[in-house]
Amino acid sequence: MNGPVPELADRADRCAEALRDDDAVLVASHIDADGLTSAGIASQSLARAGIDHEVFFSKQLDASELERVAATGYETVLFTDFGSGQLDHIVAHEEAGDFVPVIADHHQPADADTEYHLNPLLEGVDGSSDLSGAGATYVLARALLGDDAKDLAALAVVGAVGDRQTTDGELTGANVRIAEEGVEVGVLDTEKGLALYGKQTRPLHKLLEYASEVYVPGITGDQQGAMRFLDSLDVETHRDGEWRTWADLDDEERRTLVSALIQRAVRNGVPADQVDALVGTTYTLADEVAGTELRDASEFGTVLNATARYERADVGLAVCLGERGEALDAAQELLREHKRNLSRGVSWVVEEGVTREQHVQWFHAGDRIRETIVGIVAGMAVGEEGVDRDTPILGFGYKDDENVKVSARATHDLVERGLDLSTVLREAAQAVGGDGGGHTVAAGATVPRGKEEEFVERVDEHVGEQLS
Ligand code: C5P
Ligand code: C5P
Ligand code: ZN
Repeated sequence: MNGPVPELADRADRCAEALRDDDAVLVASHIDADGLTSAGIASQSLARAGIDHEVFFSKQLDASELERVAATGYETVLFTDFGSGQLDHIVAHEEAGDFVPVIADHHQPADADTEYHLNPLLEGVDGSSDLSGAGATYVLARALLGDDAKDLAALAVVGAVGDRQTTDGELTGANVRIAEEGVEVGVLDTEKGLALYGKQTRPLHKLLEYASEVYVPGITGDQQGAMRFLDSLDVETHRDGEWRTWADLDDEERRTLVSALIQRAVRNGVPADQVDALVGTTYTLADEVAGTELRDASEFGTVLNATARYERADVGLAVCLGERGEALDAAQELLREHKRNLSRGVSWVVEEGVTREQHVQWFHAGDRIRETIVGIVAGMAVGEEGVDRDTPILGFGYKDDENVKVSARATHDLVERGLDLSTVLREAAQAVGGDGGGHTVAAGATVPRGKEEEFVERVDEHVGEQLS
């Protein structure tokens, strides 16, 4: 059986076999939306296959975290959404007889190899846009369980969307085939529509007002303008005295809204590529209650980031495992706090301004922005006043007394021109006594405090070389 990503079928079969060979497995995963959904897929499929397991989360799989993994005493460790980038360290543990690693990841592999390694990049599949960590874990789940894993495709889509793998508002490559499997078994609906964040939970006027994806004059950032625009359309904006959401509209109303918004954008001189970005594919989790965050893949991803990046991965995992009630209440509380932190963080960056080098721009938030969300803030700040869209951005935040975390973000256009942030951050960090990695378009590193300037210089130079 080939599964949804034929290129990976052999590796997936071998990894599944290694898992079946043990009766207890430790799952180790990353603390973001993709890592949590990976763990959710791994945990449910191991349970279905009758394999005992425990789940361990880590912010960054460095040498000391790998010591902790080894100390658990599990003979088989399944790493999801990380592991490839730390392969050299993992292989050292394997050679020492500490554990047998099985890896389902999509990060740039370090220079080493091991037998049970499932990563799209090893088979020519794009790991930054076509398959996420959760997608790789799903491929493994399909090898382990066959068709009985197909309902887990919904979580794989949340992981991919949460990892920002969409291009022009929709998934591509292997991710599409995974989404199709979800549609086939009824856990997922896909539909062309407005590509704005908050379709399930934001009242219509706020959906439009807050839409920072595309700037539509007189609507974006303008509550009165957004309300006037909605009033002018043949769309019922209220029902029973309450604002309706995108999810509440019928098909006709959705079409009316999208075409009016496009017309407005065109008339106001919004560039064609940005107008196109108003429309995309919506990934809806069919089994979730309408009007809740979990119904929309993108909002689901934000809920997960709101848990794990605040040391509450347990809450996010519970949600991925289908627990509602208390787990969901706790997640929603964390979500409110997360949204406040993001908005404060972005405002701070805009007020302080970024420092421009020749090829990159950067800010240092010190203790003002949590290191676990500094990358999300950096990404959101791009395009705001004073923050250039076409220049890679670096954001620093203190990690502990000795180290600084740095997150880097860029655009797909820059990647097409030769940029690879993963290599740049790894090399620059290693040169100043730290380490890093990630993807071409989004990467991170840890560097010793006090080395920030030297690090920026190296990054600037290397980025300049790549883009020349
Ligand atoms: O470790 P992992 O692969 O799960 O994390 C990828 C990170 O890169 C996510 O935080 C995601 O939001 C970010 N990303 C981004 N812009 C892109 C692609 C990914 O900010 N275009
Ligand atoms: O933490 P942040 O969201 O900036 O991470 C962006 C990407 O870089 C993620 O895929 C993450 O796994 C990777 N990363 C890494 N090594 C680090 C920090 C981040 O590979 N030290
Ligand atoms: Zn990932």
